[in-house]
Amino acid sequence: MMKGKDLLSIYDLSLEEINLIFRVAEELKSDRKIGKPHPYLQGKTLAMIFQKHSTRTRVSFEVGMYQLGGYALYLSGKDLQLGRGETIKDTAQVLSRYVDGIMIRTFSHEEVEELAYYASVPVINGLTDLLHPCQVLADLFTIKEKKGSLKGLKLAFIGDGNNVAHSLLYGCSKVGMDIAVASPPGYKVKEEIVERAMAVAKKTGSKILITEDPLEAAKDADVLYTDVWASMGQEEEQEERMKMFSNYQVNKEMLKYTKEDPIFLHCLPAHRGEEVTEEIIDGPWSAVFDEAENRLHVQKAIMALLMS
Ligand code: CP
Ligand code: NVA
Repeated sequence: MMKGKDLLSIYDLSLEEINLIFRVAEELKSDRKIGKPHPYLQGKTLAMIFQKHSTRTRVSFEVGMYQLGGYALYLSGKDLQLGRGETIKDTAQVLSRYVDGIMIRTFSHEEVEELAYYASVPVINGLTDLLHPCQVLADLFTIKEKKGSLKGLKLAFIGDGNNVAHSLLYGCSKVGMDIAVASPPGYKVKEEIVERAMAVAKKTGSKILITEDPLEAAKDADVLYTDVWASMGQEEEQEERMKMFSNYQVNKEMLKYTKEDPIFLHCLPAHRGEEVTEEIIDGPWSAVFDEAENRLHVQKAIMALLMS
């Protein structure tokens, strides 16, 4: 059903495709637990282009490819001719002659779209300034594991209206989860993403709230989620952002407003004492390391479905 496709945005996935990814991920996760090999991508190669730093994405894709019987190449943007001005168009066509899939982490989302347009092999978005779909698929998979199902749950995202928040808007609306996003003025999610998510939400019955009030967002939430205040590429804005986001910290006070037994998620890396207190991220609510682990299982499912 998904063979040969790209994965650039959750918006492009049907609910059936999302559920299929989850089913395969579940199977791969339990196979791995009992040591059952699953070489679905034997002899296949994934090129991984990184224009930004990464721990989880790089390691989970690389290890995941290995566990599927294939091979992954780490290509730093600086080392590729891409870093010296070779075009995306040519890079896409050349890599397509060598490899069976391309994962890319970069700044501009349009660059990933262009790569996918010219590549004849599946392209997977490993994070852009706009979206982080693989992250959010792993997040939803984690919530499903913890809560049993997704539909009707409420996720509150407290913080920067950036790539992770955007993909959460698409992901939650697709699976029928309610989502509230609280960000300070000037750092809200993009209007066009909210509009597209709202159109999806209308069909799936999910509710979307965009607010400046973190406690209004947290009200009755089953899941609390946050991300760093300054993303990769925004390092010089760190000081300004520390001021703007100071009221947007996930802390124990916030738990008074959520449902009884919320789970806390964070895409990581985290800055303890900034967007989240140590007490929360290292406390009993936190599922951040299960979430990080699930990047592996979910991305293996994605690669197996697109590339086998
Ligand atoms: N969450 C995430 O994508 O982590 P990395 O930046 O370490 O890949
Ligand atoms: N918003 C963060 C996510 C990191 C996984 C960033 O873009 O740096």
